[in-house]
Amino acid sequence: MALLEVRDLVVSYGKIRAVKGISFDVEEGQIVCLIGTNGAGKTTTLRTLSGLIRPAKGSISFDGTALTSVPAHKIVSLGMAHSPEGRRIFPRMTVEENLRLGAYSRRDKETDDDLRKVFDLFPVLAERRSQPAGTFSGGEQQMLAMGRAMMSRPRLLLLDEPSMGLSPLMMKKIMSTVADLRAGGTTILLVEQNAQAALKLADVGYVLEVGKIVLSGTGPELLTSDEVRKAYLGED
Ligand SMILES: Nc1ncnc2c1ncn2[C@@H]1O[C@H](COP(=O)(O)OP(=O)(O)OP(=O)(O)O)[C@@H](O)[C@H]1O
Ligand SMILES: [Mg+2]
Repeated sequence: MALLEVRDLVVSYGKIRAVKGISFDVEEGQIVCLIGTNGAGKTTTLRTLSGLIRPAKGSISFDGTALTSVPAHKIVSLGMAHSPEGRRIFPRMTVEENLRLGAYSRRDKETDDDLRKVFDLFPVLAERRSQPAGTFSGGEQQMLAMGRAMMSRPRLLLLDEPSMGLSPLMMKKIMSTVADLRAGGTTILLVEQNAQAALKLADVGYVLEVGKIVLSGTGPELLTSDEVRKAYLGED
């Protein structure tokens, strides 16, 4: 049994079908990436997994538990965390307050340890822990959003375009952090427009096109596939 099993998932916004019956697995310990162009349904898929949208059809099983009617906050306490598209940090709260919110679902008192781990990973957050998060740059807010998701000690971390709007250097840093997280035992479902960077890290990748999975394979397979190279890597 995979940690996450998605079967025949259909998600609609009113009459618009954004996800049209997709199935995929995320095995424990893997980095799985979803790539696809604008509007393909990547964010919709992640929002459905974390309970923010209800699917019209299909099933989601996380560590053997059926999720489709479990509320979002319970899904967090089951071990799934979501670093959303566009960061969605709380701008008036400080960096540290934002991070501590990420641990709200936990009952144990070890959040200080986790805060230290996040600060080790992203020293800029430690240096500026008392600053309002809204004063951070885009890349810094992205680190904060990832750090906040990590504070719940997720088994599965959903990352929605963590490299969006980042400089090449910052993007490298985020991607190497994703690899470090996996090495530390976190399973990751990564959504990226930057197909090259994502597929280099991924154990398995799925290509979404207008709500359907049109291609899947290992990271190296997709990186060298003609279709992916033409459509997503801008090669002739
Ligand atoms: N709240 C909404 N109401 C109506 N339609 C929506 C809503 N959110 C998304 N959609 C539509 O659903 C489809 C999938 O959108 P989604 O945000 O999942 O795409 P995406 O793959 O994440 O794209 P991007 O790479 O641009 O972030 C699009 O056609 C979009 O216009
Ligand atoms: Mg999106």
